[in-house]
Amino acid sequence: ERLSRVCLGVTGTLALSVFTAVLGSFQFGYNIGVINAPQKIIEADYNATWVHRYGEPIPTATLTTLWSLSVAIFSIGGMISSFCVGVISEWLGRRKAMLINNLFAFIGGGLMGMAKISRSFEMMILGRFVIGAYCGLASGLVPMYVGEIAPTSLRGALGTLHQLAIVTGILIAQVQKLSLHNVFNNMTVNLVCSTQYIMVLLPFCPESPRFLYIIRCQEHHAKSGEDQVTTGIELQTHPKTHPKRMDMERKVSIAELFRSPMYRQPIIIAILLQLSQQLSGVNAIFYYSTSIFQKAGVQSPVYATIGAGVVNCAFTVVSLFLVERTGRRTLHMLGLSGMCGCAIVMTIALALLDSVPWMSYISMLAIFGFVAFFEVGPGPIPWFFVAELFSQGPRPAAMAVAGFSNWTANFIIGFGFQYLAELCGPYVFLIFAVLLVFFLIFTFFRVPETRGKTFDQISASFSKHPPAMMDLDMELGKRSTELDYLGGEGSLD
Ligand code: GLC
Repeated sequence: ERLSRVCLGVTGTLALSVFTAVLGSFQFGYNIGVINAPQKIIEADYNATWVHRYGEPIPTATLTTLWSLSVAIFSIGGMISSFCVGVISEWLGRRKAMLINNLFAFIGGGLMGMAKISRSFEMMILGRFVIGAYCGLASGLVPMYVGEIAPTSLRGALGTLHQLAIVTGILIAQVQKLSLHNVFNNMTVNLVCSTQYIMVLLPFCPESPRFLYIIRCQEHHAKSGEDQVTTGIELQTHPKTHPKRMDMERKVSIAELFRSPMYRQPIIIAILLQLSQQLSGVNAIFYYSTSIFQKAGVQSPVYATIGAGVVNCAFTVVSLFLVERTGRRTLHMLGLSGMCGCAIVMTIALALLDSVPWMSYISMLAIFGFVAFFEVGPGPIPWFFVAELFSQGPRPAAMAVAGFSNWTANFIIGFGFQYLAELCGPYVFLIFAVLLVFFLIFTFFRVPETRGKTFDQISASFSKHPPAMMDLDMELGKRSTELDYLGGEGSLD
């Protein structure tokens, strides 16, 4: 009976903590989805502002520049802030960093909400930048926190919840578009509501025990947080059994990640996985789906876009259930190859569209398939995989590098795809097909399986001559995996 009480307690706090953390991911997704939808509305507002200020309609070139800036500045905010994830999460701790990050959401949401009333596109653009900064931090802090509090056997499934929350946010933003009259108020209401939610709930979530223990060396706090969340039995034993452990887990700088042979391989894997997510071309669909469906001859492109959003959510759930059974590597490869196949089918269908009218259905199905395969692997896996590849010391710096790579690639696709599409016409997705083959080959040869392994086992697999103490560590890791659900009960002390 005591055991079941412990299990329930552990699971309850774990569920609350994961749920609260991924609310941040939900906002991230909402902000990805929201801007691309109301282009016409925002352009009309910019025009109204111009007329109000200068008494004439806005020149087309100026409008295009302002609109592009409003879109792109979001990724730039994300690039800058994701690069700071390491420093901020070490300084404040994961939980406090997530809490304080909400200030960005308030400020960004407020600026965008006030932009229309104040007749200021400057405020809108600044608001997008600040919200981008919020999303950049969330995209690093949430997977790191969830990865650190999750029991080994559930790390992948709980990590996938980050992506599930993102795609739910995107879908809500897409659906909202149907009934959207005043995007600015809507945006504010949503941001403020969910942010308040986070601010109310987060204080009840414990700090990551791994952070407290290894970085801050706060044994007492780590133990109580640990009892509440999960076991992390490895942690309980470290200072007594291996005092040297603290040295091993000292902070690692970004430069060191690239210099040290021990980290070079995992950091390259982390970067390439992030690039495989973004350069797969999925955001070409999410940013420009309406015009892609239009070009593909689909009759109601707006509903087709929502269809893609639904498929997106559904297959993230599929991945959630498969990731602890099938493993990360297999799912990632399955996703990449499926996307590649769909990109080729899409290209053929688009090329034949003029002569064979029913090809529009094929291209729509190919787009749905493309999105579905994305969510099986390349969508959720890179986010939490980086946290898995590194132990406590190098993890924050690695999350920063990985996040920065992701946001940079996101920016390149968001900005460059329109030009590429003009240049290549129906053949544009062949570029992604080639990139997908490259990432598939890379994953096959270089990416290890991390399912069911402790952080230490994973990092040991990258070092050619693991230190002797690693063996003991791995043994403890194994036992901790077996005892994951026992909470404090499984202490090896
Ligand atoms: C991932 C990507 C994001 C993309 C989304 C689509 O979270 O990071 O850029 O828009 O998946 O579902």
